[in-house]
Amino acid sequence: MQSAGNTLGSAMIQFTDVSVRFGERQVLKNISMTVPFGETLAILGGSGAGKTTILRLIEGLVQPDTGSIMVDGQEIVGLSEQQMTHVRNAMALVFQGAALFDSVTVRENVGYRLWDQGTLSEKTIESRIAESLHFVGLDDIAEAMPGELSGGMKKRVAIARALANHPRLILYDEPTAGLDPINTHIVKELICRLHGQEHVTQIVVTHDIETAYQVADHLIMIHQGEKIFDGTVSELKMSTDERVQAFLHPDAVLSASDEGVYSAAR
Ligand SMILES: Nc1ncnc2c1ncn2[C@@H]1O[C@H](COP(=O)(O)OP(=O)(O)OP(=O)(O)O)[C@@H](O)[C@H]1O
Ligand SMILES: [Mg+2]
Repeated sequence: MQSAGNTLGSAMIQFTDVSVRFGERQVLKNISMTVPFGETLAILGGSGAGKTTILRLIEGLVQPDTGSIMVDGQEIVGLSEQQMTHVRNAMALVFQGAALFDSVTVRENVGYRLWDQGTLSEKTIESRIAESLHFVGLDDIAEAMPGELSGGMKKRVAIARALANHPRLILYDEPTAGLDPINTHIVKELICRLHGQEHVTQIVVTHDIETAYQVADHLIMIHQGEKIFDGTVSELKMSTDERVQAFLHPDAVLSASDEGVYSAAR
């Protein structure tokens, strides 16, 4: 990928008025957002809000109906599949599930994209695999099969696979979903450690507020396809938007509505 963005001092990701419709359904409405180089953005929002769709737009797997998406200084809307492949080479994805290939070893899972690209020597690929597994603290399971691993370990292997490609942009879709507290902590700590590594920009989609608070420089919140918040953690906490507050404090909203039902019944 060209790094025109660096020289121009612009952002790694820039959305301007992006809208997406699936059939009759408007899934994203006029989303504008900026992710500066080297920062971590968290995207918060309830189920079906449109968070994964934002990641798919960045990957070029969904085309917007209107708007512009700049990745590293390059407009990606309307790029051909071949042009998009170059852009994708600088990105890595950590999916909602770990999405490992079950029939090959951890080592092969981590290295497959590098072998597939065919540009690096075998020696370099092996050292990338070792370095990535070391980063996630799983040096000793290179020859294990995914079926032998816990969910948390699989997620860490998925992160190692993302890192092996030396990405400039890492996209995570619900990286801590379904993990126990210890593995959640490990994954959050990995994301924090990657923050501040040279030229790594990260986008973390999550509905877990604690994860977002800990990893993000700034956050956006999506509600029914609209961006209803864009700012820092402390700005989020102080937001007076009712939809933001309802997301942050669902218990308060639920107990208030219980009270309503209760008083109505009295
Ligand atoms: N390819 C598609 N075709 C039709 N509708 C789609 C498609 N992809 C997503 N949608 C719809 O768009 C809306 C947003 O989906 P999206 O996956 O972005 O939500 P999300 O915020 O990631 O939700 P979750 O937290 O449950 O993962 C949903 O209503 C979904 O059903
Ligand atoms: Mg999703």
